[in-house]
Amino acid sequence: MSKHLLKFVLDDKLVEIDFTRESFLPSTTVLNYLRSLPHHRGVKEGCAEGDCGACTVVLGELDENDTVQYRAVDSCLLFLPAIHGKQLITVENLAQREGNRLLLHPVQQAMVEKHGSQCGFCTPGFVMALFAFYKTTKEPTRQNLVDSLSGNLCRCTGYQPIIDAAVQCCSQRNPDHFDKNQAPVIELLKQIRNEILALRISTPEQEYFLPETIEQALEWRAKHMDFKVVNGATDTAIRQNKTHEFAPAYIDLSLVESLKLIREDTHGFFIGAGVSIEKLKAFGQKHMEALLPILDVFASLQIRNVATIGGNLTTASPIGDMIPLLFALKAQVELASVKGTRRLNVEDFITGYRSTCLEPDELVLGIHIPKIAANTYVSSEKVSTRRDLDISTVVMAMRIQLDEQNFVRETILAFGGMAERTKRAHNTEKFIEGKNLDSSLAAKAAHILETDFTPISDARSSSSYRTLAARNLLIKAFEGLIEKIKTLPHD
Ligand SMILES: Cc1cc2nc3c(=O)[nH]c(=O)nc-3n(C[C@H](O)[C@H](O)[C@H](O)COP(=O)(O)OP(=O)(O)OC[C@H]3O[C@@H](n4cnc5c(N)ncnc54)[C@H](O)[C@@H]3O)c2cc1C
Ligand code: FES
Ligand code: FES
Repeated sequence: MSKHLLKFVLDDKLVEIDFTRESFLPSTTVLNYLRSLPHHRGVKEGCAEGDCGACTVVLGELDENDTVQYRAVDSCLLFLPAIHGKQLITVENLAQREGNRLLLHPVQQAMVEKHGSQCGFCTPGFVMALFAFYKTTKEPTRQNLVDSLSGNLCRCTGYQPIIDAAVQCCSQRNPDHFDKNQAPVIELLKQIRNEILALRISTPEQEYFLPETIEQALEWRAKHMDFKVVNGATDTAIRQNKTHEFAPAYIDLSLVESLKLIREDTHGFFIGAGVSIEKLKAFGQKHMEALLPILDVFASLQIRNVATIGGNLTTASPIGDMIPLLFALKAQVELASVKGTRRLNVEDFITGYRSTCLEPDELVLGIHIPKIAANTYVSSEKVSTRRDLDISTVVMAMRIQLDEQNFVRETILAFGGMAERTKRAHNTEKFIEGKNLDSSLAAKAAHILETDFTPISDARSSSSYRTLAARNLLIKAFEGLIEKIKTLPHD
């Protein structure tokens, strides 16, 4: 049985939304909901597309040990059901009143002392991103601090005072009022969890299903093939905000825990479709370094905290960053419907511009990534106008398997941004195979690459720039590999 009341914790109290009695819809964003309330207007709308961080809020969620884990997210890209069963923390919750005195949270106090704000428009977003950093990062470094703030823009203060504020408050962290008053919040979150979490919301304008298990999701999918599927909704919400694409019905997979699992088997790893890009990054740091160059420059922390690998693949975007890498990793996608499951190469899954061979009753369960053999090298690189939080102009992933004499046994060269879909450079691959890996090969291969693609010119880049960027990425990847091989121990 499913319920229709959305439940979450705000201001340390249980809040219930009955959409049948409200003027807003389930796919209303958390930002618009908060701004409709009288006491939560600190959150700001800058871009409404995940680019400025002015709308940053923090979600608190129980982990398997019943402790609250905090994540910064962009509320402009979050549909309301995404906060079901969670604690929603806004900038209004940070300071505390003691009698007549307002006690700022350490991150706010540091922003004041280090002059981290001028016009103040971006400040609530920065404060919330800093708050999440304060709560989650055990070993703050300049690198992880800058990474945590890369989703926030400030057009007047400049970043140095904000970084100084972060360094000040994070260098001597004491328990804050969230630690001290956690017990009642945990009780409320457990109370919601112990009820059935699945939601089925029906309003005259919109249907919204939030299944809790994959079986429920597949059953609902089979009955409602015209419903729009979402998970992190970072791609979907942007369409609602910017091009006013309104979906009358949704199946939202973000509650399905089994889709968020990563497991190892004899051949490699299975990554659930609902694994967030940030979780995938943590997995890469432990088990698969080849994932990191792309994940390090993927969007911002606020986006990575909710965007999923299944969503990234299924958008089939020609500039989706993970798709070329999944080609090079020889990944396979597992699809399921009530009739059963099937598995196919990611390369065959993508059929054209933003299209896949997913059947209307199917969902993506996850991705199988085989382990990389010792004589095989996988690398990837992205060219974009700026380093952080930017869409790729060209993205390349390379797989090269070498024999004992460093002759190329097998190669995959996959490119995004060079055609209407992610494509392999088959001519160049054929040219490289069987040849000795050296710098002269790189230069010749880069020349052949021009025969593989005829990229278009668009607002992001010209055709000639894309071609040049692709050539240079190939040369860079070759040079990197040649250097790497030199440092490997010889028998
Ligand atoms: C500011 C910003 C920056 C971004 N930066 C990057 C970037 O650097 N690199 C990059 O590649 N992308 C980027 N993106 C695009 C987007 O965030 C990613 O593609 C993301 O991984 C999509 O995942 P999601 O779960 O949010 O997708 P959703 O919006 O939930 O879904 C996307 C599509 O996938 C389908 N879908 C999702 N899950 C399933 C499933 N399990 N089964 C069947 N269908 C499913 C949905 O129906 C929908 O069509 C960015 C987006 C924003 C807003
Ligand atoms: S309003 Fe800019 S990221 Fe949300
Ligand atoms: S203080 Fe004005 S935008 Fe940051």
